[in-house]
Amino acid sequence: MADTSVYRAGTTAPVNIAVVKYWGKRDAKLNLPTNSSISVTLSQADLRTLTTASCSTTFTEDSLTLNGEVSDISGARTQACFRELRARRAALEAANASLPKLSTMPLKIVSENNFPTAAGLASSAAGFAALVQAIANLYELPDSPSDLSLIARQGSGSACRSLFGGYVAWRMGDKEDGSDSKADLVAEASHWPGMRALILVASAAKKGVSSTSGMQQTVATSGLFKERIERIVPDNMAAMEDAIHNRNFEKFAEVSMRDSNSFHACCADTYPPIFYMNDVSRAAIRAVESINAKAGKTIAAYTFDAGPNCVVYYLDENKDAVLGAFVETLGSTSGWKAGIGAQVGVLDETVAEI
Ligand code: ADP
Ligand code: DP6
Ligand code: CO
Repeated sequence: MADTSVYRAGTTAPVNIAVVKYWGKRDAKLNLPTNSSISVTLSQADLRTLTTASCSTTFTEDSLTLNGEVSDISGARTQACFRELRARRAALEAANASLPKLSTMPLKIVSENNFPTAAGLASSAAGFAALVQAIANLYELPDSPSDLSLIARQGSGSACRSLFGGYVAWRMGDKEDGSDSKADLVAEASHWPGMRALILVASAAKKGVSSTSGMQQTVATSGLFKERIERIVPDNMAAMEDAIHNRNFEKFAEVSMRDSNSFHACCADTYPPIFYMNDVSRAAIRAVESINAKAGKTIAAYTFDAGPNCVVYYLDENKDAVLGAFVETLGSTSGWKAGIGAQVGVLDETVAEI
């Protein structure tokens, strides 16, 4: 008898915010970066994507519903994820004839972000990590997070880092087929338990220039970008890994802020220029500077992805000084809609299997 069952699995995935930024592709088809990057995975208690994947012979075609709306899945990046995951399932089915033939059934993906989508808060990272993990759960794939990161990378580069909790590096690799361009763990969240992130939402609106298109314009037109990938990022990667291993917050903070500034300088050097930060973003930078000046040492670090929203890293021991100052300085600065506090996420403890 024909199998008309609906098979279903799900997952949540966290956001990660880079402290050494990925910006630039050397191969747009395989989504290979021009530089390595490092990020911090945030707790899913505050920001997360929730995705369920189902498949059945009764479905007519593959589909993705994102935040309640039908989403286009014809793009090469989503198709690459589906294709790779299906191939891995097909290999399991070929080795074990008693497994249901899920690899040949249409997929129905339903996803929801509980934070602004396409606003510079890494929705593509949590989104594609969740999509890949949900389908991997559905297909009962034995692949490691690092293996799955190879697939998530093809959906959105930053997504490869959201398959791990804690402090995560995406090694750019040098193979042409991209088989060594994947994420690995720099340190568990428990290595530095005091780390916190404050997310300041200046605007939840969809950005004018997507990350994908923005970075391609930068690679094509910015002279400063060459300096960034040849010298600045390699130095920042080494300094950042060192700062994390030694729990050196001052170094962590300085490299984060410098790297964010360098990335936004390359955006400004793109022709025509791209401006992700606005006056409200710049007010947050000044607020962090005054917090640090008042403390007489660096206790807060700002970083901005491709959008106006600010993430401030600080240690829990300095929470009164950091959060208090934000209420004082930014409370009177119009524009900030919300501040969301987040801890660094330990992925294994927070992933919900559905
Ligand atoms: P962000 O700064 O939020 O990562 P991007 O420009 O990198 O913005 O990517 C936004 C795009 O990522 C969305 O337009 C959508 O195509 C995709 N995306 C976001 N969330 C999800 C999700 N939960 N599932 C699948 N794709 C998603
Ligand atoms: C500024 O991963 O969103 O957030 O690979 O084209 O989907 P695509 O781009 P994406 O770019 C992220 C850029 C960034 C920095 C970072 O997360 O490292
Ligand atoms: Co993104």
